[in-house]
Amino acid sequence: MKKTVRHLLLALLATFPTAQAAGPTAQALAFTCAGCHGTDGSSVGPSSPSIAGMDPDVFVDAMLDYKNERRSSTIMKRIALGYTDEQIREMGFFFYRQPLRVKPQQTDPEMVALGKSLHDSYCEKCHEEGGRPGDAGTLAGQWMPYLEHAMSDYLNDQRRWPRKMERKVKEVVKAEGERAIPALIQYYGSQN
Ligand code: HEC
Ligand code: HEC
Repeated sequence: MKKTVRHLLLALLATFPTAQAAGPTAQALAFTCAGCHGTDGSSVGPSSPSIAGMDPDVFVDAMLDYKNERRSSTIMKRIALGYTDEQIREMGFFFYRQPLRVKPQQTDPEMVALGKSLHDSYCEKCHEEGGRPGDAGTLAGQWMPYLEHAMSDYLNDQRRWPRKMERKVKEVVKAEGERAIPALIQYYGSQN
């Protein structure tokens, strides 16, 4: 319920005149991102994540973390440094309004089934609806190679763990062993 209200508010905010006025600028700024993240944020993959439909708060946090080196990156630090915090916010709303278009990825049905059951027990609480775009980012339909990088960044302490996520990830690896993370990633990659 709380989340539904929040999403309604966000949708409303995105249509506000201030956001509209920012529209053309934000869109122009976002052209720079198209080469890697696809026009309108649906990436043709596989190592640049899709950012269409991304929660604006998660978007802003990600960009500021890249800027301030709180999150490791191959390329995004240099890019994020080129924008003011205000421009980053405007781009956040722009991408939030774009529909996420997912490309099919090849997955193994057995791993997908295992991943789904692990997700439901360990991850769904924060990554709702199988990991659809929300206030814990986007997992469903995200490129699998990107998710592999993201998971290894967390596990190697190259990226700050979201509060309470570390415990769940370590629990799932303990319970299911080495297959756990690949199975979860296959489950996310299987969704469209
Ligand atoms: C040259 C390719 C390239 C360009 C151009 C680029 N990105 Fe990225 N982006 C990446 C890659 C690769 C990653 C994964 C992190 C890394 O390795 O830098 C990423 C990650 C991100 C993420 C994190 C997504 C998540 O799910 O957490 C955001 C947000 C993002 N980029 C926004 C942008 C914006 C906004 C622009 C344009 C101003 C942009 N990027 C331009 C390649 C690019
Ligand atoms: C207590 C809440 C919580 C739990 C439980 C949780 N996560 Fe997360 N997760 C988050 C939040 C919040 C983010 C947002 C990104 C950030 O701040 O780094 C995130 C981000 C991620 C990302 C990075 C997405 C990106 O775009 O880069 C991956 C991958 C991920 N989680 C996987 C998992 C998996 C797999 C599980 C279950 C084993 C899990 N999470 C459990 C809260 C959680």
